[in-house]
Amino acid sequence: MLFSGLAPMGDDPILMVSKMFRACENPNKVDLGVGVYKDAEGNTAILNSVKKAEKYLVENQATKTYLSPAGNPEFNQLVQDMMIGDDHVAVKENRVSTFQTPGGTGGVRIGLEFVKTCNPNANIWISDPTWPNHTAITKSLGLTPKPYRYYDIKGGEFLYEGMLEDLSGAKEGDVVILHGCCHNASGADLSKEQWNELADLMKEKGLIPFVDFAYQGFGNGIDEDSYAARLMAEKLPEALIASSCSKNFAMYRDRAGAITLVSSSEELHSTNASHLLGAVRANYSMPPDHGAAVAAHILGTPDLKAEWINEVDEMRNRVKKMRTLFVELMNKKAPNSGFGYIAEQNGMFSYLTLSAEQIQTLINDHYIFFMANGRVNMAGLTEDNIEYVTDAIASLFIS
Ligand code: LMR
Repeated sequence: MLFSGLAPMGDDPILMVSKMFRACENPNKVDLGVGVYKDAEGNTAILNSVKKAEKYLVENQATKTYLSPAGNPEFNQLVQDMMIGDDHVAVKENRVSTFQTPGGTGGVRIGLEFVKTCNPNANIWISDPTWPNHTAITKSLGLTPKPYRYYDIKGGEFLYEGMLEDLSGAKEGDVVILHGCCHNASGADLSKEQWNELADLMKEKGLIPFVDFAYQGFGNGIDEDSYAARLMAEKLPEALIASSCSKNFAMYRDRAGAITLVSSSEELHSTNASHLLGAVRANYSMPPDHGAAVAAHILGTPDLKAEWINEVDEMRNRVKKMRTLFVELMNKKAPNSGFGYIAEQNGMFSYLTLSAEQIQTLINDHYIFFMANGRVNMAGLTEDNIEYVTDAIASLFIS
């Protein structure tokens, strides 16, 4: 029998939290698991700009014939402009292409397949900790993941020096997965100076940046957040960027994302792009249309784009507000709990510096669902649940 020798695979650690949350019947339950934005009422609403673009598409879209493995060309151009700008040196030198993919995950997958085509022995350096799917995708392609120090979960500390030290040991041609902004899972990002220093080190060592850019707009703003992606594509001759419309367009289930390829020369670029698109054709032929068509319509229509940017600002500011409020409440309820770092971090995620036992108490006794390693989605906090959550955490500090 062919299908008889497998051991159960076990759930993905993030999707497992969603499953536990759905199964829980306690009315107080709180979901701080999967990286999904919730508004002040606790809903993951559809953005107004998205609704308007969908209405436009229903009324005006004239065909659903095939696109191509590259996806929607208008979308590709507009997201590329949004990420690295049309004035970018690599763009002017005709050695950049952006291709629509099914979500940012599709971008990571196709980008790593391309790496494998170029060199199956390249090591893939992955921050410790990271989004678990980076390691899962790397391994599923038969590539070798190598961890580099990034964040001390228990100490709540960014390990920049450790990161540089570990990457100094990488070999020429190795690929380094970097979080463009809003590091998933620590919320700790490099400063501009640190990005510059890292880019210099990577150039000196001949390393290839693979920027996972899933949270543009959730750090400090659409433009501000693109610093690392722009820099890496400028200072390094070759780069990959996987980007996503899941979070900033709140189109999680529509699977709109992209992979951007930067080659060292215009001559090499079309051959490189042909291999990347070959990987697309052999995987899923071409990406689904809807989400990318919506994003393209928004980004290409000035009024709608302005409305969308306001909506992104609103989401970002609400998460920042929850971060500040969380720290204020914890300082009041458990003055020595030491969560001050949470107000300084970016994006949806932070780690709670708690023991494994304390984490299990929050999950089992208080129905607050988050990752067993302590990663919480701060975007799941609302004015309605934050007192409950901070009371529960504070109770862990009262002996
Ligand atoms: C997360 O990290 O929670 C999100 O990126 C959702 C996912 O696909 O894992």
